[in-house]
Amino acid sequence: MNTSTVRAPSSALPATSPFQIQNCRLKLLEERFRLGSVLLPSGSPISMKTFIPRDQGDFLYSLIRGIKPLSTLEIGMAYGVSSLFIAEALRENGMGTHTAIDPFQNSEWGGVAIKGLKDAGLNTLVTLIERSSHQALPELETKGFRAQFIFVDGSHLHDHVMVDFVCCDRLLDVGGLIVFDDSDWPAISSVIRFVLTNRSYEIAYPEIIIEKKMPKPSLSAKVLRAVVTAVPSLEKCFSPSFLVSDWDRGIRGRCVVLRKTASDVRDSQAQIFTPF
Ligand SMILES: C[S@@+](CC[C@H](N)C(=O)[O-])C[C@H]1O[C@@H](n2cnc3c(N)ncnc32)[C@H](O)[C@@H]1O
Repeated sequence: MNTSTVRAPSSALPATSPFQIQNCRLKLLEERFRLGSVLLPSGSPISMKTFIPRDQGDFLYSLIRGIKPLSTLEIGMAYGVSSLFIAEALRENGMGTHTAIDPFQNSEWGGVAIKGLKDAGLNTLVTLIERSSHQALPELETKGFRAQFIFVDGSHLHDHVMVDFVCCDRLLDVGGLIVFDDSDWPAISSVIRFVLTNRSYEIAYPEIIIEKKMPKPSLSAKVLRAVVTAVPSLEKCFSPSFLVSDWDRGIRGRCVVLRKTASDVRDSQAQIFTPF
């Protein structure tokens, strides 16, 4: 755990580069990205409104092909695009099962994700839990569920994402990966900043940037930060989020991967908190 000052990722990061992204060749996915639509169980097409981009899907797929998890978990299925990338990677690994949590899979999404998984012959690898994540995750913990890879893409409210992180951390093995979608949203980047400064996690694969959205610090911002950090009395007047930019922390695109480096052994009665 990093209990001192906020740090940017440094050369102390493990040598995870170069990481090669492979293309997932699942025909159903290629068709979905080509048409931008998906079939309802009734057979009628509807256009997809919310889903991860192709390069992010390939990134998730490649991570799973690389780490060969026994168990993966996802919060938020919608049309099942991310579920298809994840389940196809497991099928190609020849090992592992996937658990997906989405309270609205049938009521709001017409069961489209489940139909897609069935059409692709991947449904036997996937278990759907139709509950809100704040209910489903503690239930999984009670049952002794463990995961080595987790994709968080459910509710995008800051406090909900924080709860998702806290509950997912209790299921994730040390060395496992937790991936946040829409990490460029302030509600989500702030959770990631908290995790990086207060919990035993590190950025994995900062060199892989999906949709280059986060601004690199400008020269003037760098100079200002250098001046402020050189003067301790001045440094106290600025927030840590100003002193170390998201870019310098490794939060650079719409998808951030964190690796869990140790179990949580903090004393819950100690005053341990690093501003982020
Ligand atoms: C952005 S969509 C997920 C897209 C999907 N991961 C993909 O790329 O194909 C967000 C999903 O989160 C689900 N969701 C919303 N609130 C949730 C909650 N409290 N727990 C779990 N899932 C939730 C929604 O039903 C929706 O399917």
